[in-house]
Amino acid sequence: MSKAHGVKKMFDSIAARYDIMNRVMTLGQDQRWRRFAVDKANIPESGTVLDLACGTGDIAALVSQEYPSSYVVGADFSTNMLREAGRRFGQQISWLVCDANELPYKDDRFDAVTFGYLLRNVDDSLKVLREVYRVLKTGGMVVCLDTTPPEKNILYPFIRLHLHYGIPLLGKMIARDEDAYGYLIESTMDFHQAETLADIFKAAGFRGVGYKKFMMGTIGIHWGMK
Ligand SMILES: C[S@@+](CC[C@H](N)C(=O)[O-])C[C@H]1O[C@@H](n2cnc3c(N)ncnc32)[C@H](O)[C@@H]1O
Repeated sequence: MSKAHGVKKMFDSIAARYDIMNRVMTLGQDQRWRRFAVDKANIPESGTVLDLACGTGDIAALVSQEYPSSYVVGADFSTNMLREAGRRFGQQISWLVCDANELPYKDDRFDAVTFGYLLRNVDDSLKVLREVYRVLKTGGMVVCLDTTPPEKNILYPFIRLHLHYGIPLLGKMIARDEDAYGYLIESTMDFHQAETLADIFKAAGFRGVGYKKFMMGTIGIHWGMK
């Protein structure tokens, strides 16, 4: 069964408490990673940028602040997340309801496409990356921020404990939705290792693919060029 229906319903239900939970859960580091992702996108002055799975709009807003003459679209399939985005950042960004699997754009439309925490939630990462590749201009950058399954090193037992017990507990207390944050951990553990994800970027056609990990290897930022 496709993940889409459940994922959409879950984000619709946590939209109002999503941002506060993010700040607490990442010890305030989440904006630093988004800033790194935006810097990697190599956006030209007056560029066109698509922030897919924009949620409550943080990445789209950073793009718009750093590149005020750019045209920024924030797209997501959760209308409640988009409503929060519009409330927080207003209409200098174009907010669009759409599914990342089928983008309502012609080929070669954007100078850069960014997304935070999208691929872990889709059925087929390669399919979405091919769709992103299609709408990018030649020379345009894709940048993807997501969680990554932790490596089995000396810190692994502590990280595992935090992921399996700490985060769902915070989810229960702050977001009042333990299941949503249980899903976050399950989908992280089931997601591709960073190296495998880099190979999927290459299979979609991207060149110069690279990645960097953060937060004791539990967050990864991947990039590539069309
Ligand atoms: C964890 S939130 C991330 C929001 C934002 N990018 C951020 O950095 O905080 C994931 C978002 O992906 C959206 N999403 C998941 N699958 C999607 C799909 N197939 N098409 C469009 N949006 C999707 C969800 O609705 C949700 O808003």
